Amino acid sequence: MRGETCIRGATFLSFVALILLIFMHVGQINLSTVPRQISMAKVNVSAFGIGLASATGDPTPGLYGTNASAPLQQQNGLRDIYVWGLYSHCAYLNGSQGTCGNVTFANQLTPFDSMLADIPGNYTVTTRFLISKPNTTFTNTSFLQTASKAAFYLIFIGTICTFLAMLSGIPKSTITFLTASVFAAIGALLLLVGAAIWTALIHEISAINHLNVDSGAPLGIEVTFGNGLWLLWAAFAVLAVSLFPYFVSCHTYRKRY
Ligand SMILES: *[C@@H]1O[C@H](CO)[C@@H](O)[C@H](O)[C@H]1NC(C)=O
Ligand SMILES: *[C@@H]1O[C@H](CO)[C@@H](O)[C@H](O)[C@H]1NC(C)=O
Ligand SMILES: *[C@@H]1O[C@H](CO)[C@@H](O)[C@H](O)[C@H]1NC(C)=O
Repeated sequence: MRGETCIRGATFLSFVALILLIFMHVGQINLSTVPRQISMAKVNVSAFGIGLASATGDPTPGLYGTNASAPLQQQNGLRDIYVWGLYSHCAYLNGSQGTCGNVTFANQLTPFDSMLADIPGNYTVTTRFLISKPNTTFTNTSFLQTASKAAFYLIFIGTICTFLAMLSGIPKSTITFLTASVFAAIGALLLLVGAAIWTALIHEISAINHLNVDSGAPLGIEVTFGNGLWLLWAAFAVLAVSLFPYFVSCHTYRKRY
C-alpha cells in the first residue's frame, strides 16, 4: 500500500510541476490576461530617452512610439518596457498598452536588437554607439542568442519529460513506475540547467542597470528577472522533490513484486 501511495504522491507532484511549466510557457505569447503577466525577463527603457538626450545634449523628439499597438521591429518608435517570454516578446507603452512580436519556436533573448529595430532611423547610430560603448553582455547578441536558444531546448525537453513522468506514473506497474522516475530525474536535471542559464543570462545583462553616460546621467536601461523564471525554478524544485517518493516506493515495490 505504501508504495502505491508514494507513486500517487510523485505523480501528483509531476502534475503540479507541469502546471507551473505551462504557465511559464504561455508567458508573453499574446496580450490576454494571464500571458501578459508572465515573463522570463523585463527590460525597462523608459528612462533611456533622458540618458540619450543627456549624452548628446539634444532633445529626442519621436524617439518613443505613441501608438502602443503599432507593430514591433519596424522603427515605429521605442516602447517603455520590453518583456520576454520563451516564444515571443511584447513591448508596452507606459504600462498596460502594448503589442507582441511573432510567436516563434525557440525565440531568442535579443533586447539590444529589439530596441534598435523599434527606434526611428535618425536615432539608430547614436543609440548603437551609446549602448555598445561600455561593452557589456547586453549588446553581445550572438552570445545571448546561442545561450537562450540552448536554454529553451533544455526547458522544452524538460517539460516533455515532466509530462511523460506524470503520464507513466498513472498505470500501476513496476515498469511504468521506473520509467516515470527516470523521466522525472532527467526532466529535473534539464529544468535545473535551463533555469540556471536563464538566471545567469539575466544577471549578466543586468550589469547595464548601473551604467551612466559620460555626462553622469544614468543610461536609463533596467533589466529585471521575470516571474516566469520563478515558475521555472519552482517546477524544478517540485519535480526534484517528487524523486524522493519515487525512490522510497521503488524500494518497497521491489520487495513486494
Ligand atoms: C520603469 O522605469 C521607470 C523610470 O526608471 C520607472 O518610473 C517605472 O516605474 C518603471 N516601470 C516598471 C514597470 O518597472
Ligand atoms: C502614456 O503615454 C501617453 C502617450 O505617449 C502619454 O500621453 C501619457 O501621459 C502617458 N501616461 C503616463 C502615466 O506616463
Ligand atoms: C496604431 O497602430 C495600429 C496597428 O498598426 C493601427 O491599426 C492603428 O490605426 C494605429 N492607431 C493610430 C491612432 O495611429
